[in-house]
Amino acid sequence: MLSFRTFQMDSFLPSSYEQDLAQGLRDGHEKLQKGTGLGSDFLGWVNLPRDFDKDELARIKAAAARIQKQSQALVVIGIGGSYLGARGVIECLRSPNYNLKKKDTPNIYFMGNGLAADSMQEVMDLLEGVDFSVNVISKSGTTTEPAVAFRFFRAELERRYGKQGAKERIIATTDKAKGALKSLADAEGWETFVVPDDVGGRYSVLTPVGLLPIAVAGIDIDALLAGARDMMDLCASGDVKSPSFRYAATRYALYRAGRSVEILGCYDPAFRFMTEWWKQLYGESEGKDGKGIFPASVEFTADLHSMGQYIQEGVRLMLETMVRLGPSDAELLVPYDEVNGDGLNFLAGKSMDYIRERAMDGTLLAHVEGGVPNMIVDVDKRDERSLGQLIYFFEYACGLSGYLLGINPFNQEGVEAYKKNMFALLGKPGYEDRRAELEAKLK
Ligand code: PA5
Repeated sequence: MLSFRTFQMDSFLPSSYEQDLAQGLRDGHEKLQKGTGLGSDFLGWVNLPRDFDKDELARIKAAAARIQKQSQALVVIGIGGSYLGARGVIECLRSPNYNLKKKDTPNIYFMGNGLAADSMQEVMDLLEGVDFSVNVISKSGTTTEPAVAFRFFRAELERRYGKQGAKERIIATTDKAKGALKSLADAEGWETFVVPDDVGGRYSVLTPVGLLPIAVAGIDIDALLAGARDMMDLCASGDVKSPSFRYAATRYALYRAGRSVEILGCYDPAFRFMTEWWKQLYGESEGKDGKGIFPASVEFTADLHSMGQYIQEGVRLMLETMVRLGPSDAELLVPYDEVNGDGLNFLAGKSMDYIRERAMDGTLLAHVEGGVPNMIVDVDKRDERSLGQLIYFFEYACGLSGYLLGINPFNQEGVEAYKKNMFALLGKPGYEDRRAELEAKLK
């Protein structure tokens, strides 16, 4: 089971901080469990690992198996919460080089998460002569980036396979009733999966939003949900000494003590998109009403050679959270070299994992000494169950943190500001007045 610890936190916080925040945590816990807090319409994720509809799960697996059989590639179209979790899990459990590896599951391309023509053209070129399917994911069904990308890939599917053939290769994951994507899917007869009303985008990785692409990559989604269930049970107990509660309390106490940036990192490049998922989870949940810790990410040891200087000696505004993943699959031992021209024989016979462990400990000591408080999340293994635990650990702590901060952790009205301006500038009907106003400002 995942565990949480701090390191020499006494140098940064009074030793009573966890006790001082215990009541606040209990209050937040009650809000999450009983739905009595702000944003209580969006608590569907709290019991989802236990309550997941069995028929829906079977349908996800059947759809994944069909995609695996009929396609060499899957294009997953979605942005923000509609893709980051799936990408995080796939890269973490199957590798960032997943598409380059020999495997019996389809390549997966994540599209519709930006507006760069070249990157879309590149994927369309890579799909030349490759049988592919599309999973278009949008809770609102109206987000511009995925909607535009979907037009291109849908047109390509229809060109290649005809309307009927394309129909068998398009799956839409969206709202159960509203939005343009839902209307389109109904009109065209595409298979659909539902993003539950009471689960926000950033909390949706363990719904069909994440589970379908994850299953297509050959990942055991039952084990992922079982891991989330482990942590759900632990959180439901309300034990303020359990990992999610301690993480929420520590980062909040540090925030109150003036720390405004949290860097989440790992010593494994496979974790990079999990940190991207985490950044959305915490950034969108907490960054409001002029409050919130800014979530940033690092990949060590690579970033120790770029960001290390700032972390060690720059403005003392950070706190650091390191996810330590259990042992690597590969046991690589440093070769002995007779000549020892590089002077590395002191490492000969040592494993890469051993060297990495020492680097982790050395960095931890240096950063704490340099004034950066550290929290550590130990994950036993890099497997489905452990990652399920980690996902729920962060989700629950995020809800608790939001309530400690006194904000609504489940809305994201700020995301709308850029969307409205973009619609206005692009001439979307209904935004005419705003357009004139914005054009005048741009002159
Ligand atoms: O968390 C959120 O709600 C947003 O960031 C969404 O994930 C993102 O905007 C995508 O929205 P949608 O799934 O409606 O296309």
